[in-house]
Amino acid sequence: MKITVVGAGAVGASCAEYIAIKDFASEVVLLDIKEGYAEGKAMDLMQTASLNGFDTKITGVTNDYSKTANSDICVITSGIPRKPGMTREELIGINAGIVKNVSSSLIEHSPNTIIVVVSNPMDTMTYLVHKSTNLPKHRIIGMGGALDSARFKYRLAEAIGGPISDVDGMVIGGHSDTGMIPLTRLATRNGVPVSEFLSDERLNQVKEDTKVGGATLTKLLGTSAWYAPGAAVSGLVQAIACDQKKVYPCSALLDGEYGLNDICLGVPVILGKNGIEEIVKINLNDAEVASMKESAEGVQKVNNLLEL
Ligand SMILES: NC(=O)c1ccc[n+]([C@@H]2O[C@H](COP(=O)([O-])OP(=O)(O)OC[C@H]3O[C@@H](n4cnc5c(N)ncnc54)[C@H](O)[C@@H]3O)[C@@H](O)[C@H]2O)c1
Repeated sequence: MKITVVGAGAVGASCAEYIAIKDFASEVVLLDIKEGYAEGKAMDLMQTASLNGFDTKITGVTNDYSKTANSDICVITSGIPRKPGMTREELIGINAGIVKNVSSSLIEHSPNTIIVVVSNPMDTMTYLVHKSTNLPKHRIIGMGGALDSARFKYRLAEAIGGPISDVDGMVIGGHSDTGMIPLTRLATRNGVPVSEFLSDERLNQVKEDTKVGGATLTKLLGTSAWYAPGAAVSGLVQAIACDQKKVYPCSALLDGEYGLNDICLGVPVILGKNGIEEIVKINLNDAEVASMKESAEGVQKVNNLLEL
């Protein structure tokens, strides 16, 4: 199993590290445009192999796509991150050009690959990869909901005062401060609805804290976060590489599902060896359906800025 990660920055390197530590891939290629940067990150990570006990071989390359040839899965993290006060949408001008060129170079050398898009604004970047590459839709997956759901579970556990492992929940919709839809109605603490433990007011606070989860960290760190994003990407990659059939909310190209068409938005999907094996249709209530529609309208506005 060969995996390429484009962008050896904060998220790319964290993602490569988690993939290596989980030890399910034979090879990870890190690629960056900055001379020597990916080589340095790869060497540093390889020097953790004996300490962390993995056999995955990590190599770094400067913009040489021939070294990525025949990758089973490619992750795109290249592009600029947010600075405090910025929205993800403001990154589109620079990141669209990068993501378009990177995806076409990847496919040239790995025509059968599955692509996981991370660069922001992620739903629009995922849509751009669909439109510019024409790969079958199950082979292009946007990562956002897996991270947002992890942040949701963190906030739920904090509010409940119990362990995160007891909590389950999902965030669907667009990967933006206004577009995320934390599904509080369906969240559980070990099978029991969280509403049994939390007041409506507290649940609303959890919802709001989840939606600004990325912005909160960007303010604290001066740039966007990387540990949880890297871990979330590694979860998606492992589900595909190991054909786990796990359910994750991912940005998928919709063709009528949830009443939406020709847009990439976060919905629950089953991930396996073919990428998106199925889009899971859950019964949303009227308020949730309205939120999905509003979220899609927000993403559509950003998609309209693309030069396709
Ligand atoms: N989807 C999500 O949930 C999520 C979460 C966190 C970050 N992000 C996004 O991921 C992206 C990366 O964030 P980061 O914190 O790792 O940024 P970073 O600046 O640390 O790393 C980005 C890397 O991309 C490289 N790069 C730029 N252009 C390139 C090109 N054409 N080819 C190859 N490499 C190139 C840069 O040299 C840099 O090393 C940002 O767009 C950020 O907003 C998304």
